[in-house]
Amino acid sequence: MIVDIINKKRLGEELSFHELDTFFNGYLEGKVKDYQMSSLLMAICIQGMSEEETFALTKVFIDSGDTLDLSFLHAITVDKHSTGGIGDKTTLIIAPIVASLGVPVLKMSGRGLGYTGGTIDKLESIPGFRIDLSEEEVMHQVQDIGIVITGQTASLAPMDKKIYALRDVTGTVSSIPLIASSIMSKKIAGGADKILIDIKVGNGALLQTKEDAEKLSDLVIKIGKVYQKEVHTIISDMDTPLGYCIGNSLEVMEAMKVLKGEERDNNLTKLCLELASEMLCMSKGVPKEDAMDMVRQSIQSGDAYQKFLELVDAQHGNLKNLSVSKKVKVLKASKSGKIVGISAIELGKLSVSLGAGRVSKEDAIDYGVGIELLVQVGDIIKKGDSLAKIYYTKAPRLQRLEDIFLIK
Ligand code: URA
Repeated sequence: MIVDIINKKRLGEELSFHELDTFFNGYLEGKVKDYQMSSLLMAICIQGMSEEETFALTKVFIDSGDTLDLSFLHAITVDKHSTGGIGDKTTLIIAPIVASLGVPVLKMSGRGLGYTGGTIDKLESIPGFRIDLSEEEVMHQVQDIGIVITGQTASLAPMDKKIYALRDVTGTVSSIPLIASSIMSKKIAGGADKILIDIKVGNGALLQTKEDAEKLSDLVIKIGKVYQKEVHTIISDMDTPLGYCIGNSLEVMEAMKVLKGEERDNNLTKLCLELASEMLCMSKGVPKEDAMDMVRQSIQSGDAYQKFLELVDAQHGNLKNLSVSKKVKVLKASKSGKIVGISAIELGKLSVSLGAGRVSKEDAIDYGVGIELLVQVGDIIKKGDSLAKIYYTKAPRLQRLEDIFLIK
C-alpha cells in the first residue's frame, strides 16, 4: 500500500528497491498522486536515505528512460554538471574550450530553477538558437563539429524531470540523496564515460555548508562506481556570484569575452580554467599542468572562441541580434570602504524579480534584463562610485544596497 511506504520512511526505516520502484513508477503512471509523492519526498528530506536506497532510486530514475551509447565517438567522453549557481555561465565557456582541444562535447542542459540560471535559457537569448534538437541531429552535430548543447531529450530519465518539478515547489530540493540520484541518473543515462560535477556551496547554492558538499561528493562518486563511471568533483564557492554578469544575454556576452581572452583572473575565469583542464585530464590523460597550458592556449589562439561561433552557427543562432535592454539604472555606493562581500542570493533574487528567471514554471523569460557588476570583492571604493548597472524593462524594485554589497 502506498501509504505504508510513506509511513515506513516517516519512521526512518529503509525502503527496498521494490518499494521505491513501485512508488516512483506509480507516480509516473499517475496512480500515485502529487500529494502522496510530496509526502514521501518530505519524509526522505527529513529522514534521509541509506546508500543502498540512493543506489536503488538512481536505478529507478535511469530505467525510466533510455541510455545513450556514445561509443561511435571513439573517444573518452566527459560530461560536466553544476549543482547550480548565480551567474554560472561556465558551460558556455568550457564546452567550446575542450571541444576545440579534441574532446567531444555532447551536453544536455537544463533551464533555470529557483534563483539559479540555466544554460538552455542563456542560449535561447541568442535569437534563433535551437535547443530542441532531435537525437539524430545531436549525434550528427557532435560528429560534425565536436560540440552540441541542447535541452534534455524527453527520453532521458523522464522520472527525474517530473520529480524535480514537484521538488521545486514542495521545499524538497535540498536533500543530498535526492540531489545525488537526480544528477547521476541524468549523467549515466547521457552515456558519457566520465563525469565531472561542480558542487556549489554558499548562500546562492542548494547546499550551504562544506560538510554537505563533501557528503554529496562522496555519494556521487559511490553511485558512479556502481555503474563503472569515474566521477570527479570540484567544490566551489557560491557566496559570491560568478563573474560580473547575471541575466541571460548579459551572461552570453560575458562568456564570449572570456572565450576571446578579454577577461582574466576573476572567480569565473579561474573556475573555468580549473573545470576545463580537469575535463581534459579525464579525457586525454594529460597531466594537470599541461592541461592548464592547453586550455590557456586554446583561448589565446582564438580556437575556443571559433568553436563557440561554430556551435552557434550549427544551431542557427544569430549573435548579431543578441541584445540587452536599453533601460539602465546605475547603483552607487552610499559609503566609502572595501567590498568584503557581494551576495549571490540577493543578486539571484534581484535578477528573478527583473524577469531574468522564472517565479513559476510557466513564466516567460526576459532575456535582455539583468545585472552587470562593476566591482568585485576586495575592491576599495569611494562613496558615490558606481557598483552595478541594472538592465530592466519594468521599473525594478531594488533590495537594500547593504543586503547586496557588504562594504567595511
Ligand atoms: N541539479 C539537478 O540536476 N538535480 C538536483 O536535484 C539538484 C541540482
